[in-house]
Amino acid sequence: MLPSPLPSHSDDDWTERLKVDRAHAWHPFTQEAELAAWPPLPILGAEGCDLLLADGRRVLDSISSWWTNLHGHGHPKLVAAMERQAAKLDHVMFAGFTHEPALDLLARLAPRMPKGLTRAFFSDDGSTAVEVALKMAFQAQLQRGEKGRVRFGALAGGYHGDTLGAVGVGELDNWSTGLFRPLLLACDRLEVPEDPRCLLGGADADWPARLEQATADLHAFFEAHGPRLAAFIAEPLVQGAGGMRFWPPELFAELRKACDAHGVYLIADEVMTGFGRTGTFFACEQAGVAPDLMCLSKGLTGGILPLSLTWATEEIYGHFLGAWEEGKAFLHGHSFTANPIACAVASASLALFDEEPVMARAAAIHEALKEAWADLAASPRLKDLRVRGVIAAARLVDPATGTAPPRKAGLDLRARALDKGLFVRPMGDCLYLLPPLCTPPARLREAVTYLGELFA
Ligand SMILES: Cc1ncc(COP(=O)(O)O)c(C=O)c1O
Repeated sequence: MLPSPLPSHSDDDWTERLKVDRAHAWHPFTQEAELAAWPPLPILGAEGCDLLLADGRRVLDSISSWWTNLHGHGHPKLVAAMERQAAKLDHVMFAGFTHEPALDLLARLAPRMPKGLTRAFFSDDGSTAVEVALKMAFQAQLQRGEKGRVRFGALAGGYHGDTLGAVGVGELDNWSTGLFRPLLLACDRLEVPEDPRCLLGGADADWPARLEQATADLHAFFEAHGPRLAAFIAEPLVQGAGGMRFWPPELFAELRKACDAHGVYLIADEVMTGFGRTGTFFACEQAGVAPDLMCLSKGLTGGILPLSLTWATEEIYGHFLGAWEEGKAFLHGHSFTANPIACAVASASLALFDEEPVMARAAAIHEALKEAWADLAASPRLKDLRVRGVIAAARLVDPATGTAPPRKAGLDLRARALDKGLFVRPMGDCLYLLPPLCTPPARLREAVTYLGELFA
């Protein structure tokens, strides 16, 4: 092991290390001026569904390390796959080369893809998978002679990543992404209602009428905007960063019909929903929808290394074929495209879906969350308790006003939950759990009991 450049490097003394953090690190989604009050948590390791903090606390990773981890941290088969691959071929460019880990991954995943999605383009994370899909859709439209399709459609309240193209199709009221308005793609946004059938209290009597109205609004949106759209992008069934908004599969199926009727490509962003999070392998399955393009990342590698895929149909792929001089090729790529180590771990993660009862574990988590979450329903500080797949969510409210509590309440909750062995990270007024699929249901019941004590 190399000697540490830090004067102190015992596991329990973080004084010097934190000075380096303050001097040089710039953390994501963080107001750095608050770091004196809310310093980052030093972490030493992770095992299964737990994070091991430097101060000795073992806390449940209840949000799967930003919705990435599937099978638990340090799964021996995934660690072994990485080690084997790193010793054999660490990295090589994917233009002009191909390699076994990439092909293993594609062969394993292709049979699980929705019908018609046959071509996969590699990149590095969810945002780049989305950028690729947007560029592919636009270029395919141009190359099939549809030159006026210079806008995109998206759901209000959506989130597709933080690169500029992805921000352009995300909800501009999320955090402060509205700042970048002058730099963004042209996008029209469609409102969809949340699905009341996921609420613990169930749907209200007027839901069928509201669903019918939402369907009519969707088709009216396409009448107005359809001819100018290259593609419509949506997170199927769950809008994650927009506040765990669970929306109806029926409307996703209508979206497919409307895109077909108006010559618009449908992009399913399954970066968060993919790999079992909503109760099926992909969320698209619950709506019976096969999109034209699909974005995958996060759980693709079991949540261990950065990697993403944008899947496309043969129809789209065909628009990129021709003589080099025609300029039809998709001229996009990243240095680490199809990194062999990431591909090997992704392939091993997919194999685990066959070797272990991963989807049955997801079903058990769903049941445990539904049962346990109901215990919080009486709290005046939580509203709209809902569960879809392995995601349980609720709205934090200030009982005095009935509105969202101040932001500090979320930060306090995070700190107090840590003392009870639970890592949670509310997004605005949305409190949620989205645990790794390996989490024992008993640990979730315990976690919800802790939350109940905090809200008592
Ligand atoms: C639905 C969705 N799409 C895209 C992204 C962006 O992924 P990444 O953070 O890997 O760039 C996210 C991230 O949370 C996401 O939830």
